Amino acid sequence: MCGIIGYIGYRKASEVILEGLCKLEYRGYDSAGIATLDGGAIRVIKDIGRIDDIHKQKDFLQLGGNTGIGHTRWATHGGVTQKNAHPHSDCSGKIFVIHNGVIENFDGLRAEMEKKGHRLTSETDTELVAHLIEEEHRKEKEFGTAFAAAVSRLSGSWSLVVLHEGAQEIHLSRNGPPLVLGIGKGEMFCASDVPALLPYTKQVVFVEDGDRARITKDGFEVFASGKRAQRKEHTITWTAQMAEKGGYAHFCLKEIFEQPSKIREALAADVGAAVEMLREKGSIAVVACGTSYYAGLVFKSLLQKKTGISCDVIIGSEFAYASAGREKIVVAISQSGETADTLSAVKLAKKNGAKIIAVTNVVGSSLYRQADANVVIGAGPELAVVATKSFTCQIAALSKIALSLSGDRKTLEELKMASEQIESVLDRAPEIEKLADRLVKRRDFFFIGRSLSFPSALEGALKLKEITYLHAEAYAAGELKHGPLSLLEKDVVVVALAPADETFAKMMSNIQECKARNAELFVLSDSKEALAKAALHFQMPKATPEAIPIVYAVPLQLLAYYMAVKLKRDPDKPRNLAKSVTVE
Ligand code: AGP
Repeated sequence: MCGIIGYIGYRKASEVILEGLCKLEYRGYDSAGIATLDGGAIRVIKDIGRIDDIHKQKDFLQLGGNTGIGHTRWATHGGVTQKNAHPHSDCSGKIFVIHNGVIENFDGLRAEMEKKGHRLTSETDTELVAHLIEEEHRKEKEFGTAFAAAVSRLSGSWSLVVLHEGAQEIHLSRNGPPLVLGIGKGEMFCASDVPALLPYTKQVVFVEDGDRARITKDGFEVFASGKRAQRKEHTITWTAQMAEKGGYAHFCLKEIFEQPSKIREALAADVGAAVEMLREKGSIAVVACGTSYYAGLVFKSLLQKKTGISCDVIIGSEFAYASAGREKIVVAISQSGETADTLSAVKLAKKNGAKIIAVTNVVGSSLYRQADANVVIGAGPELAVVATKSFTCQIAALSKIALSLSGDRKTLEELKMASEQIESVLDRAPEIEKLADRLVKRRDFFFIGRSLSFPSALEGALKLKEITYLHAEAYAAGELKHGPLSLLEKDVVVVALAPADETFAKMMSNIQECKARNAELFVLSDSKEALAKAALHFQMPKATPEAIPIVYAVPLQLLAYYMAVKLKRDPDKPRNLAKSVTVE
C-alpha cells in the first residue's frame, strides 16, 4: 500500500525517482521521501502531503547523485508525520530503508534494539529494520550478508529497499508486497509496480516471495534460501503512454472513457485453459475483494444460468472462515493481482489441494504467478484508486468463460455490442454531469437492482462512497421492504437500475414503494415507462441481458466522478484508500 522505487545508473537519480513516485502515488499519498547517494554520503528529503506539494516546498531535485530510493506512503504503522515518512535510517545515518508491509514482531525487536543502545526516532516498523541491519553489519562486514541476517529476524510482510553509504548498490527483499526489477543498459531500477518503469524499460524481473536481491548499474543478482537464483525476464507490453492522463483531467475519467476499447480486449482474452479446468468435476469457489468481488457475483449468476454449475463467491478476507476446504477449483479475481486478502485465500486453497484460475489485469503479478491458469482481462494500467474499467473488463472476461463453457456463441457475439452501448452512454456524459448537479447536495443514497443489475448497484454505491465520501449503500431491490425502507424520506436518493428484462415488473413495484416514501428517485432504464416515474432519469441503450452489468456500471461511474469533482474531492486519490491493498 506504499509505492517504492529505486534507481542506480547514469541519470540524475532524484529526477527518475520523482517521476516514478508520481506514477506510484496511487499506492499511497500521505507522505513521501527520497534519499540519494551523492559523493559517498546519503541525503534525504521527506515530508507529509502529496508529492507535488512536497516538491514545491522542498525541491527533491536538489538531491544529486545517480543512485537513490524513494517512497510514497499509506500509513499502517505510526501516524502521518514527517518523522514517520520514509526513508528511515539507522543511528549512523549511513543506512536508509524504505518499506511496504507490516513487521509483526516489531515490539520485541524494538525493545531489543533499544536495549543495545539504538535510538529510534519514529513510530514506524521500518526504522527498526535500518537498526537491525546496522546491528548485523557490526558483526558481518559484507553488507548483503548482514542484510540477509537482519531480514531473517523479521516476521510479517515486506518489500524492503535499502541504500547504504558503503557501495554503489541497492539491496532488496520481498516477502509479500510486490517488487519488480527494471533492466536497462548501464542502469537498473526497482519498483512496486510496472508503470514507474515504463518510461525507461520494458524488460522486467518479478522478485519472488522469499527473494533477496542486489542491483548495481550493471545488473542484478537474486538470492533464494541463501543461494543465487535464476529469475525469468519478462517483456512488458504496456506502453508509457498508457500510464499518462492523455488530456483527461483525471485518470478516473480517462479510464471510464477507455472502456469501449478495453471491453473488446477483455472479450478477446484467452480463456481456454480456464474453461478446460472448469470442465473438471468438483466444487468451485470464487474469491475476490471489493469491486472484484462484485464481478465475481456476476460470474456466479452467469455460470449457474448458462451451465447449471453452482459456485460460492467468498470475500478474500472471509475465505479462511467460510471455505469448506474442499474446493477443487478457486477462481481468484483481482485487478492488481497483489491484494493480500485474495492472495492469502489462494494460498490456503492451494494448501488444501485446489487449482487456481486467476482473472487479473497484471501479467506477472503475485496472483498471476501462483495460478494454474490465467485469464488476463486486458484493461491496461488502471491508475485511479477506484476500479472502473477493470470492473467491466473483469465481467467481460468472466462472461466469456461462462459462455464458452456453455457453448453459447450467440450471446458471446451479442456481448460484443456492449462496447457500442457504452460509447452511446459516454457520448451523453454531459447529461450525467447535469444530473450530478441536481444530486450533489444530497447526503444519502440507496442503489437498487435485481438479478444481474444488483452487482452493478453494489458497484455504483461503492464508487460513490469511495470518491465523494457520501453515504451510499446498495440493496437487492426486493430487500428494501425487509428493513431499509424505514430510512427512506424526502431528500434520500434512490438510484434504481430498471432494465426492461425479467426483473422489470418487480423493479417497477420497488420504484413505486420508494416514491410512496417521498424518496428522490433517479431511474436508469431502457423503458420509457420506468423513466416516466422519476424526474431524474437516464435513458439507457437496449442491451442484451448478459451485457447489463457492464453497461449499467458506466453511468454510475460517471455520476460518482462528476459528483466528486463538484464536491472538490480528488477522484483519483480518495482519502484513506490505496489502490492495491497489500496488507490483510
Ligand atoms: C475499488 O474501487 C476499490 N478500490 C477496491 O474495492 C478494489 O476493488 C479491491 O481492493 C480489490 O482490488 P483488486 O481487484 O486489485 O484485488
